[in-house]
Amino acid sequence: MASVTSLTDSVQQQLASALTATRPEAAGADPLLRRSDRADFQANGILALAKKAKANPRELAAEAVAHLTTGDLIKDVEVSGPGFLNLTIADRAITANLAARHADGERLGVPLKENAGVTVVDYAQPNVAKEMHVGHLRSAVIGDALRGMLDFTGEKTIGRHHIGDWGTQFGMLIQYLFEHPGELAPAADVDGEQAMSNLNRVYKASRVLFDSDEEFKERARKRVVALQSGDKETLELWQQFVDESKVYFYSVFEKLDMEIRDEEIVGESAYNEGMPETARLLEEMGVAVRSEGALVVFFDEIRGKDDQPVPLIVQKADGGFGYAASDLTAIRDRVQDLHATTLLYVVDVRQSLHFRMVFETARRAGWLNDDVTAHNMGYGTVLGADGKPFKTREGETVRLEDLLDEAVQRAAEVVREKARDLTDDEIRERAAQVGIGAVKYADLSTSPSRDYKFDLDQMVSLNGDTSVYLQYAYARIQSILRKAGEVRPAAHPELELHEAERALGLHLDAFGDTVFEAAAEYAPHKLAAYLYQLASLYTSFYDKCPVLKADSPEQVENRLFLCDLTARTLHRGMALLGIRTPERL
Ligand code: ARG
Repeated sequence: MASVTSLTDSVQQQLASALTATRPEAAGADPLLRRSDRADFQANGILALAKKAKANPRELAAEAVAHLTTGDLIKDVEVSGPGFLNLTIADRAITANLAARHADGERLGVPLKENAGVTVVDYAQPNVAKEMHVGHLRSAVIGDALRGMLDFTGEKTIGRHHIGDWGTQFGMLIQYLFEHPGELAPAADVDGEQAMSNLNRVYKASRVLFDSDEEFKERARKRVVALQSGDKETLELWQQFVDESKVYFYSVFEKLDMEIRDEEIVGESAYNEGMPETARLLEEMGVAVRSEGALVVFFDEIRGKDDQPVPLIVQKADGGFGYAASDLTAIRDRVQDLHATTLLYVVDVRQSLHFRMVFETARRAGWLNDDVTAHNMGYGTVLGADGKPFKTREGETVRLEDLLDEAVQRAAEVVREKARDLTDDEIRERAAQVGIGAVKYADLSTSPSRDYKFDLDQMVSLNGDTSVYLQYAYARIQSILRKAGEVRPAAHPELELHEAERALGLHLDAFGDTVFEAAAEYAPHKLAAYLYQLASLYTSFYDKCPVLKADSPEQVENRLFLCDLTARTLHRGMALLGIRTPERL
């Protein structure tokens, strides 16, 4: 494995040394290098530098140019505007750089980061005995993409699916099952759909009893106490709900083409035993205080109605623990036992106040500090195509599986229309990859904090910023490579490059930098935008530069090489986002 220094980094280094040679005080200053329409790169950093040195920016720029060696890497440099530098890269350097990436297999020359840490990613956290909704979809899709990107940079990620598998609501469910044994089939005997329909039935029936029968309600309350005190029979019934729900969860995750590991499903219940200790520690340290019997944490800056402080409740007056206690205990576990350096939560933005309070509490307790930080990637709401909260025409919440099934069905129509030589089985397989890819991409190409419109027509469109467009670009390249037959892709750095080849090449070189930036900022949409741009640049290259009919055999090989590297970059980038790229479409 040989990592490749990106052209941007190499130019950046040369510029920085030229600047330091010009003015020693410029050492460490950022030349602010950007891709540009005028030249390959533009450096804007001289303006700030000139201001600091009280120098004329154009003169300073000219001095820097004098210190810059042109040749192998930088072919040409000129001063422009108020003191910008426009830089042109040598064709040979571009091709040689891409050739090194091409030779580096799956990593495409992208280095591993030096001081990798451990990030625990809390995502895909549905609730036991409940249907998954579009919010859970976002958490799963975004979390999975973040893990893909972080892993690729060399960070170690550990997943935690903090499922809702604990709490007072289980008293009602368990008591009902106790009184109506056999209402849940053994988990081994059901598929996802049956599991959910059984759970729904039990949920509804127990709810009716709970709301209408005072005595049942009382028995359900006692059942909560039995559950919390670890009564064996009660726990067994509780486990049935968990197992049945997992059958359902797994069926949805499979439909989503997402790998979820059993050992990473660590729900609220897992922290049950540690919660009294969490409360004791917080009280001992004085982070939490008793208030009207409850154990709470107050925050100066967090206030609700009438300017009253909103406390975080660690333990209720009746001794019970809730959501906050489980999250605080989870933090202790993740920091102390998993040795996390970063805690990342992919949870609906509507829970952001909860996390603010939980994180601040953990900081006061010293569980979080400068070396261990926590972030909530609060994501926005999923809206319907009409921009209103996502509901069926009847005003009900949309079932997640129905939604995914419909996406796959739409994709099948698109695939069938385009494909001439595909069998029915192949169409089914492609439709799943296209449909699920479309759902994931639509989500990931929007900034996570924004609400986004779930619009199937737009998602599976062949034009515009969609995964289908990217998948077609990939499949088209594969078809060209197949057509090339015996002729293999090969780099020829001696060849002069067409404008469209240069643009494509410089963009290919930026893949690693983009993944690192997107991973560091938890911004999958930046990688999505990069890939879309890559497909667009490829399209214009393909329009302008004949590949198989190019002028010389070397030219054909070199263009095939650009095609191949584009395909591999598309494939890798999409894979990091959790999206497949079929070889044929
Ligand atoms: N189960 C919760 C829900 O459906 C999300 C859990 C988020 N994670 C956490 N550590 N609190 O809203």
